[in-house]
Amino acid sequence: MIDNKDSKKRYRVDHLIEAHAETLDKAAGEALLAQMDELLKNDDFNGLRDLIIANNIKCSVSGTLNWTDVRQFNLMFSTQLGSVSDESSEIYLRPETAQGIFVNFLNVQKTGRMKIPFGIAQVGKAFRNEIVARQFVFRMREFEQMEMQFFIRPGTQKEWYEYWKEERMKWHLGLGISKEKYRFHDHVKLAFYADAACDIEYDFPIGFKEVEGIHSRTDHDLGRHQQFSGKKMQYFDPEINQNYVPYVIETSIGLDRTVLLVLSEAYKEEDLSKDGKEDSRVVLSFPPKLAPVKLAVFPLTKKMVCLNWPRELMADCKQDFYCFYEEKDAIGKRYRRRDAIGTPFCVTIDHQTKEDGTVTIRHRDSMEQERIPMSSVRELVRQAIR
Ligand code: GAP
Repeated sequence: MIDNKDSKKRYRVDHLIEAHAETLDKAAGEALLAQMDELLKNDDFNGLRDLIIANNIKCSVSGTLNWTDVRQFNLMFSTQLGSVSDESSEIYLRPETAQGIFVNFLNVQKTGRMKIPFGIAQVGKAFRNEIVARQFVFRMREFEQMEMQFFIRPGTQKEWYEYWKEERMKWHLGLGISKEKYRFHDHVKLAFYADAACDIEYDFPIGFKEVEGIHSRTDHDLGRHQQFSGKKMQYFDPEINQNYVPYVIETSIGLDRTVLLVLSEAYKEEDLSKDGKEDSRVVLSFPPKLAPVKLAVFPLTKKMVCLNWPRELMADCKQDFYCFYEEKDAIGKRYRRRDAIGTPFCVTIDHQTKEDGTVTIRHRDSMEQERIPMSSVRELVRQAIR
């Protein structure tokens, strides 16, 4: 971290330099980041301060270059366990969910009769004393991680690291997001526990930023738990007749950050002006499988409310996916409200439904409407959200 002596504002040095790099053209920004990575790799704190001053990186509050020295700081929140607060009761909130998995490794392996390779995944809260929490849910002090630790035979970590890089990128592309929006960023300065690490970055409206980290954590974590608890963290591998502390490949993705990614990707303001008549809409084009509400059911007019069909359709669908019923306002207004919430399908029940059992289904992104039998609505939505 570094403080500005005039404003007393504190910054994380890497975030300060990264924010400045974003204001430069691409080549200059990349050159600056490469210089920063090299200095971080060598723990060269004076060099980092010189880099900030040489690049004229000013405090956004005071506008001055009056910086303190660069200092290391602890990202973990400490607190006290129990009623007496002395040194022995000091504990820390977890800054990653990973350690719970390591502690439970043998328990899961033995009770689940698991053979290596296998993974344990979980979702949970993590806490970090971020100096600057900002950009909506991008960086928070309390956030949610989805992590997996994949246990492997020592010596196979390079292959598994490549395997998980590929698998995780496939998962991201499976959200329906284009390849150009993603890139890998290899870490130059490795964390003390890793022998290889990279980030999957997404092109947010605020630039390319990390959403997921993939780390080859060696036997560091299990080894340390073994050393300090005195309890063996070994696995007997029947295929090679050997005991060993497994190596680990970790995939770690921020849940909140992924929500921000999906929102950034989906949010659109569309100009629908036609023949001199101004019109526009806000639409959240979620892939149907991610949309919180999948289907909206509308009776065309108040008269239809007393008919049974809207309720029948709701009853047919709501066991399978989340649907929403609405009868207020003109149909066009209802469509626009659903666009802004990202509901991929709206179904309207009208006079013709009585004649031939068909309804109008309206597709959110194309705004096209078609008539289909009411009895096929559920299956159509089910197919789209698979
Ligand atoms: N166990 C490894 C680990 O925690 P990380 O790269 O520090 O790795 C993993 O964090 C992911 O957690 C990041 O890619 C990001 O999506 C999310 N994350 C980290 N810090 C965060 C914060 N302050 N607010 C929101 N999400 C955060």
